[in-house]
Amino acid sequence: MEKNNRRNFLKTMTAAGAGITAISSASAISERVKGSKYMGGYIAPKVDKVRIAIIGCGVRGRIHYHHLSAIANTEVVGICDLHQDRAEMAKVKVLKNDAKRHANVKVYAGDKNIYKKMLTELKPDLVYVVTPWSLHAPMAIDAMEAGAHVCVEVPLCITVEEAWKIVDVSEKTQKHCMMLENVNYGRDELLFLNMCREGVFGELLHAEASYIHDLRHQMKDGNTTGSWRTYHYANRNGNLYPTHGLGPVAQYMNLCRTDDNFGRITSFSTPPRGRALYAKEHFAEDHKWNKLDYKGGDLSTSIIKTTMGKTIMVQWDETSPRPYSRHNMIQGTKGAGAGFPTRVALDYTKGELPDAVFTAMANKDGEHTDYHSWTEGEKLKAVYQAYDHPLYTRMKADAEKMGGHGGMDFIMNFRVIEALRLGQPLDQNLYEGIQWSVVGPLSEASVADNGASVEFPDFTRGNWKTTPPLPIIK
Ligand SMILES: NC(=O)c1ccc[n+]([C@@H]2O[C@H](COP(=O)([O-])OP(=O)(O)OC[C@H]3O[C@@H](n4cnc5c(N)ncnc54)[C@H](O)[C@@H]3O)[C@@H](O)[C@H]2O)c1
Repeated sequence: MEKNNRRNFLKTMTAAGAGITAISSASAISERVKGSKYMGGYIAPKVDKVRIAIIGCGVRGRIHYHHLSAIANTEVVGICDLHQDRAEMAKVKVLKNDAKRHANVKVYAGDKNIYKKMLTELKPDLVYVVTPWSLHAPMAIDAMEAGAHVCVEVPLCITVEEAWKIVDVSEKTQKHCMMLENVNYGRDELLFLNMCREGVFGELLHAEASYIHDLRHQMKDGNTTGSWRTYHYANRNGNLYPTHGLGPVAQYMNLCRTDDNFGRITSFSTPPRGRALYAKEHFAEDHKWNKLDYKGGDLSTSIIKTTMGKTIMVQWDETSPRPYSRHNMIQGTKGAGAGFPTRVALDYTKGELPDAVFTAMANKDGEHTDYHSWTEGEKLKAVYQAYDHPLYTRMKADAEKMGGHGGMDFIMNFRVIEALRLGQPLDQNLYEGIQWSVVGPLSEASVADNGASVEFPDFTRGNWKTTPPLPIIK
């Protein structure tokens, strides 16, 4: 498998930074570079104290530097942002969490390339990249080349070309590159993962995932999220932010790991309406948001067919006025679990399930579960009691205290440090972050070709077949 060539690949549309649309060929063919090694299941040499540098101290960065400076056995050595005041504020917060441990923390600010100086001077063990999307891949690559493991906010990359570069550099440098998909650590996502591993839903066949979150208000941001993300909505048309919904269901189904992998994708977008309407309503006629031609459809829908013929629907909509949802639906031969609101339906007879779970789900005659109705609300207590993931149970109190999307962010950040210290593989490997992220550019290519089915490159070069599933972390 080492010698597998990259497939000739489609042309993929990219839109980076200030809204420049470019067509780039992602068709480079190469074998795994000599001396490089497959990174699935990779265990890095243990580090006792993890020396961390953080790039990006905006809205999202604040959560990470708070957590990383509070977790034991870390030292925050470097903080970097374009804005001096944001980096200084981060330093204050880090020192507030532990002034002694982080006493040598150094601030780098004011220049778009100053992070490179930080990497060279400080030689951190681990770098967190928490910057706009177009900077994720170049910063991740620079961090690994400088000898650091890297954790990158979602999505890990925005083009297929970038994806291959990240894979090549991680395999060459033997440095972890993990995408920070926090939703995989949500209580319900961990619950369903545990139930999937225990076979409760039977053989898994289909999943539905989404990121439906009205974020139009971010267009009012001065120089934070909306100031750069709005150009993506304007200049790209596809499923641009797929990983919050997709990451968890991909791990339920063991995609990239032994059982299956990503096969093909077909994608459609609705007409683009909401952003232009919002701009018209909320900004002056000559405002920059009223000068954009919004090309990205409000709602994007993709269908992924896995290598083994299973299906996943992925939706993305940050524009329409409707309630938040990630769908989080998993369906198997013995039942289904779904999110928003959380509910479960199972097909079992008496004695086949833990008593309390069966009682909560039983039909009128008490001999079989009622799979025509969802078990939800109060009745789910028995399900949580029986199947809550041990990682959630262990971390619950700290997660509630430290917060970050209800605690999922803290569990994720804690696990990164724990795995590096204990010499464990990271919970999300390089290829998972990459395969989940390339839904963005592949969906753009499909939409541009009237929904044509597009093949996923196999970034594992066939090695998914021998990569073990994520174990149940205790
Ligand atoms: N996982 C989640 O739940 C979640 C939530 C929000 C945001 N995010 C992701 O986090 C990332 C950051 O989003 P955000 O909302 O914090 O955006 P933001 O604009 O608030 O912050 C980005 C920061 O990066 C800094 N920056 C830009 N270029 C830089 C450079 N060259 N060197 C150093 N710093 C630079 C900016 O000054 C800014 O402070 C995005 O990828 C976003 O998708 C994830």
